[in-house]
Amino acid sequence: MNKIIRKQQLTPETALFEVEAPRIAKRWKPGQFIIVRPNAGSERIPLTLVDGNKERGTITIVVQRIGKTSAVTVATPADGAFHDVVGPLGEPAHITSVGKVTLLAGGVGVAEVLPVAKAFKEAGNYTVVLAGARTDSLRILREELLAVADEVIWATDDGSFGFAGNVVQLLQDVVKASGEKPDLSHVIGPIPMMRAAAKATKDLGIKTYASVNPVMIDGTGMCGGCRVTVRGKVRFACVEGPEFDAHEVDFEELTRRTKAYKKQEVQAYEAHKC
Ligand code: FES
Repeated sequence: MNKIIRKQQLTPETALFEVEAPRIAKRWKPGQFIIVRPNAGSERIPLTLVDGNKERGTITIVVQRIGKTSAVTVATPADGAFHDVVGPLGEPAHITSVGKVTLLAGGVGVAEVLPVAKAFKEAGNYTVVLAGARTDSLRILREELLAVADEVIWATDDGSFGFAGNVVQLLQDVVKASGEKPDLSHVIGPIPMMRAAAKATKDLGIKTYASVNPVMIDGTGMCGGCRVTVRGKVRFACVEGPEFDAHEVDFEELTRRTKAYKKQEVQAYEAHKC
């Protein structure tokens, strides 16, 4: 069991957990993830690490309620525990010193981009985070983003705060207005957003990495559930990713594969709510 040290409800659907996991806290690097089972026998869900503290022996994750198991995870009480946590898994993010790095983040990706933005800044880059939310009240971790990036620009779908639109449109707007493009871009968030970001950055000629989130089961390269086609080759996101060159990922296939169990996921969630 992994004891919860701190729980912070960020929005009605999203919660931050600091969890006891000393061995993961000692070894994790930005861009890596863990697999959590909130209860014995529950589905295993992959979650990108948001932080890790060696001294406290804790890791931090942010979970959004989108299906049965994530709903159970978000509902875990502050004085509770997760049944098990496995990690750190996957390869760390490609952190290089290139000049100006723009990081696009949407949904819980806004939390997951924190350690990557921090690492790029520590490597000597000028970092700009383009953070997206559906509406002003759902903007999460605003202070934390300001602490790790040189600039943070918000976009909201309904225009209630910052740029009206999504982060991909914001990137296009920023590049057009300034006449300058970043040396590198990193994108993390929902698949449709990463797919749109990959297309836009390819058109703009910006090298881009995407942290992809396919279906995952064991997280150790054994089951093949996380197959992603990258530059025409099958790659296992759990051991070779989760980060790949965004312009080489077959997002059409990735979208199809992540929807493969949608019906069962909806049924399980509805049954759980009853
Ligand atoms: Fe099973 Fe990657 S999750 S091989």
